[in-house]
Amino acid sequence: MTQPMIQVSHIKKSYKVAKRSSGMRASVSQLFHRHYEIKQAVNDISFSIQEGEIVGFIGPNGAGKSTTIKMLSGILYPQEGQVIINGYVPYKQRKQYVKDIGVVFGQKSQLNWDLPLIESFELMRCIYRIPQKIYEENLEKFVELLDMEEFLHQPVRQLSLGQRMRGDIVAALLHNPKLVFFDEPTIGLDVVAKEKIREFIKYMNQTRHTTMIFTTHDMQDIEKVCSRLIIIDQGKMVYDGTVEEIKKKYSNEKNLVIELADGQKETYSFENGEDSINQVLKNLFAKNMVADITIEEPDIDTIIRDIYEKGVDRT
Ligand SMILES: Nc1ncnc2c1ncn2[C@@H]1O[C@H](COP(=O)(O)OP(=O)(O)OP(=O)(O)O)[C@@H](O)[C@H]1O
Ligand SMILES: [Mg+2]
Repeated sequence: MTQPMIQVSHIKKSYKVAKRSSGMRASVSQLFHRHYEIKQAVNDISFSIQEGEIVGFIGPNGAGKSTTIKMLSGILYPQEGQVIINGYVPYKQRKQYVKDIGVVFGQKSQLNWDLPLIESFELMRCIYRIPQKIYEENLEKFVELLDMEEFLHQPVRQLSLGQRMRGDIVAALLHNPKLVFFDEPTIGLDVVAKEKIREFIKYMNQTRHTTMIFTTHDMQDIEKVCSRLIIIDQGKMVYDGTVEEIKKKYSNEKNLVIELADGQKETYSFENGEDSINQVLKNLFAKNMVADITIEEPDIDTIIRDIYEKGVDRT
């Protein structure tokens, strides 16, 4: 295997957070003596990513996803461990490193609120010194793919969330970064807008081999876009593998739905590899006219919810 593009080794990050004590007296005393506690947001995470991968980075609220993305993009530094991307240590060599990357934070726009969208793009062209030809080609292609023609000249403050998000994505990709971080790029968007963004991410990956890492709470994003999935929980990595594998590994219960000739429906749940499925089928066929049989596998939402609730090592 070639040298991975991203090498993350045992990174940790904690925040100092003001401690809350209850009661009036405590509040007054806190005015003078602040009490802090340490919140371990990322606690020993390691992984590597090859060029050209699209990796979904998921986990419950507060798991440490954004903190990790910020360390990878050089906005924060890890207190322990190390990140090496394209040979750079992101927070130390930020100036050279940022040319290689694009960053999209769904919750926080990087566009200038007062400028028409197109002028924010022009600004990117100057900042990144994007050659005119590349800029124009990219802009034309991206605007077409994301269907942005009609609001290009509107100030960003007037844009709807979905329009603004598409603007942020384009702004982050105009300079042809090798690697793009997306932190919740589909948050709050309608199904059509989500689908456009997914298609766009896939297109960039397939045609330009752009490496992508993105966080989301929408499992459809993961299923439709990512080949690889990393799950973190309470600052620790609990899963790293393909979407297929996680389905196979954790979807050990299936529902057999049988519609009888009289229209009645019956549902049976089975653990994988159980013998009783044969018995049930035999009995059914012996006694009834079966009109239809469907086997339902748990969808990715159900599997992920189970992992968040019960952990990966559930029995
Ligand atoms: N600037 C900060 N100061 C103090 N604590 C922080 C700060 N940023 C994050 N935290 C804490 O670190 C933990 C991880 O936060 P982080 O934002 O990385 O989670 P996340 O996985 O992105 O969650 P979400 O899905 O809600 O976006 C949380 O407990 C959060 O309260
Ligand atoms: Mg987050």
